[in-house]
Amino acid sequence: MVQTEKKPVETKSYSLEDWRKGYESQPQEKEYWIEDIEGEIPADLRGTLYRNGPGLLEVYGTPLNHPFDGDGMICSFKFTDEGCYFRNSYVKTKEYLEEKQAQKMLYRGVFGSQKPGGILGNIFDIKVKNIANTNVIKLGKKLLALWEAALPYYLDPETLETKKIDNLDGILKDSDVFSAHPRLDPHSPFNNGKPSLINFGIKPGLSSTINIYEFDLEGNLLQQYSHITPGFCFIHDFLITPNYIIFFQNPTSYNPLPFVLGMKGAGECLDFKENEPTKIILIPRHAPHKNVITLEANAGFIFHHANAFEKDEKTLIIDSVCYAKLSQINPDKSYKEVNFDELAPGQLFRFKLDLNNQKVEKELLNQRCVEFPFINPENVGRDYRYLFIGATHNSTKNAPLQGLLKFDLHTNEEQLYSFAPKGFAGEPVFVPKSNATAEDDAWILDLIYDSENHRSDLVIFDGKDISQPVATLHLKQHIPYGLHGSWAGIMNN
Ligand SMILES: [Fe+2]
Repeated sequence: MVQTEKKPVETKSYSLEDWRKGYESQPQEKEYWIEDIEGEIPADLRGTLYRNGPGLLEVYGTPLNHPFDGDGMICSFKFTDEGCYFRNSYVKTKEYLEEKQAQKMLYRGVFGSQKPGGILGNIFDIKVKNIANTNVIKLGKKLLALWEAALPYYLDPETLETKKIDNLDGILKDSDVFSAHPRLDPHSPFNNGKPSLINFGIKPGLSSTINIYEFDLEGNLLQQYSHITPGFCFIHDFLITPNYIIFFQNPTSYNPLPFVLGMKGAGECLDFKENEPTKIILIPRHAPHKNVITLEANAGFIFHHANAFEKDEKTLIIDSVCYAKLSQINPDKSYKEVNFDELAPGQLFRFKLDLNNQKVEKELLNQRCVEFPFINPENVGRDYRYLFIGATHNSTKNAPLQGLLKFDLHTNEEQLYSFAPKGFAGEPVFVPKSNATAEDDAWILDLIYDSENHRSDLVIFDGKDISQPVATLHLKQHIPYGLHGSWAGIMNN
């Protein structure tokens, strides 16, 4: 008889009860010097970390159906010679202020949060609330809160005071949208080799228009162009290389009728076409932006990409977090009742695009469930070795993110720091050290929800070795699970 080696069964690393507490609203806006610190803040970590995410998970008594419908709350962590100064403040959107004035929910959420009153209370109300909750970046003198279905909101980078909805000095029209996933090109061919910021906005329909914008870091427009692609587009993120802007058009269809009739949120009307290929669209960055290349791949559903680079003139490499399918939002069940075991995990895949033969190869790089990739900004669009990403404690199956993973793409080695069983992790932000020479010479900043103490910690790791934190900064309150953030260094602070 042949004996097979049994793999040890991995026990659950979390409790749903603990995880749910991280989705309690945080209505308080505060500012203070962080005093409860373990370890030491690195002497060269000077600048501000900004983070955005839903802060309110119910609107004046009406619970949200999905956290993505929550009003955006910005956190800033300013590192100075005196220590770290924390602030959190809501983006005072027009809709946020109207609801505050009325003391009730006035807007339906895109992800299925309905106003009270059932179908009759929601039918034919197709107003969209700009919740400005997905990302936050510094562009020129402005801090911009981003949400992909509307214009950005402009905030004061120091005080986080909301100034106004912003069309970027007239570059955007009122009907335009500006995605929450801008990419920084560290050496743009359109800015004399200096950095640039590239972003897109999508107008979906039977055919969809993709608008692309490239700015210098003062916010001046370098170039702008568009591409129309057949079919509905749900595209959350994109990629750049020196020569291409790259979109993965997820295979989805959209029937807005249940939304218009007040039965479902707009996001619940999205249907993932499991058996149809993803279209990979490569738009040339150089004028006249013609000769767009479209390839097809069985990519699954993608929210976030890690990076892309041109291996040679006809070969592109793209690393992305892929799901076997899009998890449908259930309008009759709270997101807090989720069964993680039933959902498809997000896993890191590598796509090799052969432009000569119009072929795409797909390879699984790591089994572990991961989300929110971040890399060295100097390597965006270029060959790279290290990826930092939120990860589950266990090496297989879907679960909440509880760890920070450093993944070496040259050796496939991984290093994991886990906050399980009580800690829950988010997106790590990569901050290059002041004297960086190697790709992983960085400080990695991770905002962790500590369910044991019902508060959040900003944890700082040395990118060289994440086996132990360098410093842990305990906040006085919890920050609900957030989405994305960015670092504004001392040079552009
Ligand atoms: Fe995102």
